[in-house]
Amino acid sequence: MYFLLTILCSIVLIGKVSSASVDIGDSPCNENDSDCLLKITKILYAQVIKGDKDLEIPTSDPMYIKNIDGKFSDIDYELKNTTVVGFADCEVRKAVLAEDKNKATFNIFCPKLSLSGQYAVNGKILELPIQGEGDYKVILRGYDITIDADIKKVTRDDNTYISFTKLNLNANLTNGIDFDVENLFGGNAQFAEPAQKFLTENWKPIADALQMPAIESYFKEIFQNTNKYLKTIPANKIIK
Ligand SMILES: *[C@@H]1O[C@H](CO)[C@@H](O)[C@H](O)[C@H]1NC(C)=O
Ligand SMILES: *[C@@H]1O[C@H](CO)[C@@H](O)[C@H](O)[C@H]1NC(C)=O
Ligand SMILES: *[C@@H]1O[C@H](CO)[C@@H](O)[C@H](O)[C@H]1NC(C)=O
Repeated sequence: MYFLLTILCSIVLIGKVSSASVDIGDSPCNENDSDCLLKITKILYAQVIKGDKDLEIPTSDPMYIKNIDGKFSDIDYELKNTTVVGFADCEVRKAVLAEDKNKATFNIFCPKLSLSGQYAVNGKILELPIQGEGDYKVILRGYDITIDADIKKVTRDDNTYISFTKLNLNANLTNGIDFDVENLFGGNAQFAEPAQKFLTENWKPIADALQMPAIESYFKEIFQNTNKYLKTIPANKIIK
């Protein structure tokens, strides 16, 4: 499953643009040294998730997402007012730069992401009619996510900076979902209980079918915040 996502490039940075706020060390990586790139990526990821007041970068753990809209041929869903907890515990497992340096590939594993907020759903999932609106909480266990990111270079004040533009996301949930969805079928237990059981038992095909709008929202946020950091770190401090 492959999706395209464009990161908004119109991030306005208020404050000290030129002073690096992330200490990534003094030894930039060889472009083909994936151990070195992984080390820098881990430092940067941890910093991005933590956030930075001076750079007006919000924390991503918890991450707040106002709206996630999933529209498919058989089903529509909407997640409102969502709080996601768990990005600080994800592990960056791979960071590789393409030979032409215009692309990077990352792999990240998130052992547990907890989402809560309000939902609305209407349609069919794997032939099962489902409908409802109310509070929800889901726990997603073992997300293995691969991200191909296009790289853009910008020269400013004699320095070159990089930013990520387009994302290709590929996500594989490996370990299950706990669903706690209130008010399915208007709270009619006769329909709601079997539906909740069905969701829990069929977590894998359900994740494969419905996950992408949510995954895109998370990583759009994370990469936008990453780009704010990268505006403060000249590219030659990262790659020789
Ligand atoms: C890495 O790239 C450098 C030049 O950029 C090259 O000299 C070196 O042989 C490469 N190493 C490997 C393991 O590919
Ligand atoms: C958003 O969620 C919080 C916590 O779950 C809740 O207190 C608040 O009322 C919700 N806001 C809206 C607009 O639904
Ligand atoms: C997803 O993860 C499972 C468990 O690790 C693995 O068996 C499967 O091959 C993976 N699928 C994809 C498409 O990567």
